[in-house]
Amino acid sequence: MMAQRVVVAGGAGYIGSHVCVALLDAGRDVLVIDDFSNGSPIALDRIREVTGRDFETVAADLASQADRARIEDAARAFAADGAVLLAGLKAVGESVEEPLRYYETNFGAAAGLLHAMAAADAKALVFSSSATVYGDLNASPVSETAKIGAVNPYGRTKQFIEEILRDHARATPGFGVVNLRYFNPVGAHESGRLGEDPNGVPNNLFPYIAQTAVGRRDKLHVFGNDYPTPDGTGVRDYIHVVDLARGHVNALDYLARTPADTADDRVVDVNLGVGAGASVLEAIAAFKRASNRDVPFEVVARRPGDVAEIYADPARAKALLGWTAEKTLDEMCADHWAWQRDNPDGYGDASD
Ligand code: UFG
Repeated sequence: MMAQRVVVAGGAGYIGSHVCVALLDAGRDVLVIDDFSNGSPIALDRIREVTGRDFETVAADLASQADRARIEDAARAFAADGAVLLAGLKAVGESVEEPLRYYETNFGAAAGLLHAMAAADAKALVFSSSATVYGDLNASPVSETAKIGAVNPYGRTKQFIEEILRDHARATPGFGVVNLRYFNPVGAHESGRLGEDPNGVPNNLFPYIAQTAVGRRDKLHVFGNDYPTPDGTGVRDYIHVVDLARGHVNALDYLARTPADTADDRVVDVNLGVGAGASVLEAIAAFKRASNRDVPFEVVARRPGDVAEIYADPARAKALLGWTAEKTLDEMCADHWAWQRDNPDGYGDASD
């Protein structure tokens, strides 16, 4: 049976809000659990607006013992039969400064959600893992059988949570997991009503480009142009967040139709990427075309920890989930720009 009633942990965040839309548009019911430490309650209203559907929310911290009973009661009352785990901290640099906070928060969120699922007897889980688990050990395209070796605490929380989920699935009859290893999610909902609203100065390329194009930042720093890539700048697999979100619905459907109750195929690792790379300079050029704005930039030193190039082999997503990315880099830029233009301060300036 398909998971019809899905707990979305971290549903008010950038990716979570788009996952909620994909699930609601596919006719599923949703229960959001979020502590709003990074996500916004306004995003939840916008999800209702673009889908025309309502859903319940529990404002709670999955890692908190004090909130646990309330979360478990809510999952049970909702009669959850599936879940998506997106809740967690996600800034690489911050994780190097405060590793303990990253481990406590991200492991705590995973454990809290597993307890809530047990309370409701829900057995299908999709986890927001990351291509960061591949570290810098592999040539691209990277398939799921590549070597694993995250290079910072944030990445190691993703890597270790994959292992925690493997252990939990082995110990729990009927429990199935898809670890979705995201490449670089960008873009926004086509309505322009939902998008990425990073706290403070953005760490990632697209929000930084977008804030530069809209005039909130003076210029973009391009981290190195002496990599062994065609134009010397870093190459990544940018994937539209709406394509990515759709992959979560496919992953839940995969778990529902995969009967095996033993062995490793109850936990599968699946890349979500387009399967091709774009350089920093190509991303800037595409964003300029989409926005018709200038994006001033300056080339500076490489950022420690960056790899020259990484992009996905997305064959398994197609074979197992029936999923392929559909949207182009130009569409990613157009949708990211429409969101940034209409919401220059993210949800912070939203009056409705
Ligand atoms: N870049 C710049 N200037 C910026 C920001 C980024 O030139 O201001 C470059 C980077 O050097 C890299 C590319 O743009 O070549 C993409 O950088 P992002 O920070 O957007 O993305 P990353 O690939 O570094 O990060 C992604 C995920 C993280 C994950 C990381 C691990 O966003 O969650 O992969 O590799 F941890």
